[in-house]
Amino acid sequence: MAELALSAVSAVSAALDLVGEVLSFLNRKANRQKDVRGDVQKIIHGLSTVQAYLKHMDGKESDDILKERVSQVRDLAYDIEDVLDEFRVHVPIKFHRHRISKYAEEVIHYFKHWNALREMSSEVQRINTRMEYDIKELGGLIRFNSLEEGSSSGARVELCHVTPKEDDMVGFEGHKETLINHLVGDSRSAGLKHIWVVGIGGSGKTILVKNVYESKKVLKKYDCHAWIHVSRSCKINEVLRSMLKQLCKVRKQSDLLELDEGEVRDKLRKDLQWRRYLLVLDDVWGEDDLKSIVHALPQGSGGSKIIVTSPNHNLAKSCVGPSDYILEIKGLDWKKACELFCKKAFPSNGGRCPRELEEWSQKIVKKCEGLPLAIAAVGSLLSKKSQIPVEWKKLYDSLGSEIDSDSSLAIISRILLPSYKDLSINLKNCFLYFSIFPEDYSIARERLIRLWIAEGFIKERGGKTLEDVAEDYLNELIGRNLVVVSKWDFDGRVSICRVQNLIKEFIILKSKEENFVKVLAESDSSSSTKYKIRRLSIHHSKTRWSDNMSGLRCVRSLFIFEWDDSLRSGIRTVLLDNLKLVRSLDLEGAPLTEFPEEIVELTLLRYLSLRGTQVAKVPKSIKKLAYLETLDLKHTCVTKLPFEIYALKLLRHLLVYRYNFKNYVAFDSVQGVEVPAGVAGLSALQKLSLINATKHKKLLEELKVLVELRKLGLIGLKREDGTALCASIKEMRKLSTLDVRSSHKEEYIELDNMNDNHPINLQRLYLKGRLHKIPGWISTLHSLVRIGLKWSRLETSPLEALQVLPNLMELEMVDAYTGETLEFKAETFKELKFLHLEQIDRLNTVIVEAKAMPKLEKLSICKCEKMEMLPLYISNLTKLQELLVYDMHNNFINRLQKNSDFRYMIEHIPIIHSFTLENNQDWTLQNFS
Ligand SMILES: *[C@@H]1O[C@H](CO)[C@@H](O)[C@H](O)[C@H]1NC(C)=O
Ligand SMILES: *[C@@H]1O[C@H](CO)[C@@H](O)[C@H](O)[C@H]1NC(C)=O
Ligand SMILES: *[C@@H]1O[C@H](CO)[C@@H](O)[C@H](O)[C@H]1NC(C)=O
Repeated sequence: MAELALSAVSAVSAALDLVGEVLSFLNRKANRQKDVRGDVQKIIHGLSTVQAYLKHMDGKESDDILKERVSQVRDLAYDIEDVLDEFRVHVPIKFHRHRISKYAEEVIHYFKHWNALREMSSEVQRINTRMEYDIKELGGLIRFNSLEEGSSSGARVELCHVTPKEDDMVGFEGHKETLINHLVGDSRSAGLKHIWVVGIGGSGKTILVKNVYESKKVLKKYDCHAWIHVSRSCKINEVLRSMLKQLCKVRKQSDLLELDEGEVRDKLRKDLQWRRYLLVLDDVWGEDDLKSIVHALPQGSGGSKIIVTSPNHNLAKSCVGPSDYILEIKGLDWKKACELFCKKAFPSNGGRCPRELEEWSQKIVKKCEGLPLAIAAVGSLLSKKSQIPVEWKKLYDSLGSEIDSDSSLAIISRILLPSYKDLSINLKNCFLYFSIFPEDYSIARERLIRLWIAEGFIKERGGKTLEDVAEDYLNELIGRNLVVVSKWDFDGRVSICRVQNLIKEFIILKSKEENFVKVLAESDSSSSTKYKIRRLSIHHSKTRWSDNMSGLRCVRSLFIFEWDDSLRSGIRTVLLDNLKLVRSLDLEGAPLTEFPEEIVELTLLRYLSLRGTQVAKVPKSIKKLAYLETLDLKHTCVTKLPFEIYALKLLRHLLVYRYNFKNYVAFDSVQGVEVPAGVAGLSALQKLSLINATKHKKLLEELKVLVELRKLGLIGLKREDGTALCASIKEMRKLSTLDVRSSHKEEYIELDNMNDNHPINLQRLYLKGRLHKIPGWISTLHSLVRIGLKWSRLETSPLEALQVLPNLMELEMVDAYTGETLEFKAETFKELKFLHLEQIDRLNTVIVEAKAMPKLEKLSICKCEKMEMLPLYISNLTKLQELLVYDMHNNFINRLQKNSDFRYMIEHIPIIHSFTLENNQDWTLQNFS
């Protein structure tokens, strides 16, 4: 469809949501304002009509006039949102979830609010007039276009078809060999096997498979073979016919035409039953397509193969059988990438790069992120330019914009376009969201998810929370190879993620078309735009960001990634004063020392992050932010929250804590926040961390009302608090993370009173403080993936209680045990990937029995001063990738040396690092890898 219809569709549906809320408010409150209600009703009617038109356009080509009309409709929807939001700013009422606060009910009759209502009313009337006109125009155009299309519908061209070339095989020799081995290896007794080759468009998977497919060595093993390009709009019937033609050597086209689909299937099955066949299904997108093709095929004679190439990793995962093989194609490594680039760019120079172009070559190759297709494209383009640095710099600078031109770079855009079009509207928005962040920026999963939610991209689905649905979305984008994970947590969740540079260029392009975000970056010369700015992202503080503020009024999201003095002084007077309608404000890391009071006037805020700033006090007026869902004050200096925080009834995430340890974890290296009585009022809370319970004893009882909690962090607990805490935790059936810390290093934590009603869904548990023993219920937590025991000083080894946890992946122990020996029993801790031992004073022996911790990847041991020997049988931890030791005994460190007699025990570990603290200041590293 017209690409920019995405923003129109999104804007219209957002506007519809908002009108619905306003109308339901008016229905309750504004009895005497029938005409206003009538006008608002008209807007709903008009928007619904527009929505229907846009749906009708879905998937159809459109011309420039129509595109322009659609962009007008989008702006109309924006205007509606603006008018209604202005009204909401003046009438501080939560329309959400039909909960109207008492406060608001009382003040609604005030003159000021009638004024706001009147103003909205006249705006709404004007909009209705405009909309009538727009709808007529749009309707006319769409009908006209549909007629046009009917005549040429058969002639839609497949854009993404790229012809692979033999000489693009650089870097794939290994993959080629693997594939060939799979294809020639099996005997005739083997069954039908699928081989999956998965990788993003441009990664070279088709080139690779084509290369293998054409090899004589392979083909001679098969009785017949076929290559089928399964386009996304393919017709199964035609695919089957094409297969029949290639595999069964049907000579005459006319023979085929006479068969109906059932007969084609019959013939395929009959002919292939006793043959060993090789079938390539190239570029498969959907599970349904795949299934209906594969179902038509018999097992064949032994050793038949189907190779499926797909950009969609999720598809491979959900369809793969036990004997199948998946080959994942990642980008080329640096050396191979340069080799390929030079081959393309300097063909007349024998693939060698002239010295004066080296710097620019490397910069350009870096932008390609190892995508062979991209490298090849840029390289060939450059081979046609004059080989002088100025010219190359010009190309480098324009790498983003060239994509849209008719150059070979357009290929990259084209190969991504199908991936993009395949996304639902919400996923498209989530994907475009990456255009907000600077180049090479990795974003934490949880931050991204909360932002998406604040934007309204996520809709509740099948009893899942918005957060869960958003995580599904993220995984979907990752599975489609559009987003890459920069770092995984040990428990298999995404920690931080980003998009590759070239994909980023594509996103930026789309984002511009959609007017998705206005980015102020270094290279920007103008800061004015013809359209209203909905999202503003400041990447570079030297931009002329403050020149013209008139466009700011409609900004809904603001991000600032780089600060300087002018921005610091301007943020309050210029920026915040102008952004009345903003919903997401992300000032993470801003050089702020106090909470800018202007923020509380941004009454429509849903997401506010002052994370990492020096802010120490939250003003009482925070209560004005009645729509706030996320308040992120992590790593700030805030230690107290005012009572008024409880006015924020929609709050889902309240994060206030700070770590300030230097070299070692110390008991008091974390700081929490004190809250007054009343926390039970925040019943929508999902994350609440870290609350200091020292002074406020009722708190633990109050907590039991917070049944939506997923994460709860408490500090300052006394032993006698245990009973009340257990009683509250029992009510939190959705709790997945619990972090509990005693008031004092010697104070006991007592959580034994949980009976049978313990939080069975707990996945992460941190206990910090003395323990008499591990509470019995912990051993029954089947979902537990991570546990941290700190300062427990247990007399008996905690391993007995923990070794029965079937899914434990991370175990951290800091001063958790006072014994001398830790014994990891045979065949226990089967899923453990990360083990950390720290400050276990008397520990001198660690024993790893047979098949204990078979999956351990990382082992770190810190300041266990009595430990002089390497863990016994550490050589049996074959999966171990990293051994990190900190401030260990010299004898221990000596055993890591290459020439040590004990070295054979750790020879298999790729990374072995030892750190020692010098002068209580800095860690120095000795590398024994
Ligand atoms: C700011 O921009 C608007 C529209 O883009 C324009 O009408 C206005 O004159 C500009 N103001 C200044 C001070 O440049
Ligand atoms: C918790 O509050 C108490 C009493 O105000 C204070 O002494 C203590 O330092 C606080 N603890 C933390 C970790 O913030
Ligand atoms: C270590 O592994 C070897 C070979 O798998 C096995 O024979 C031996 O029993 C294991 N020893 C211990 C103590 O784990």
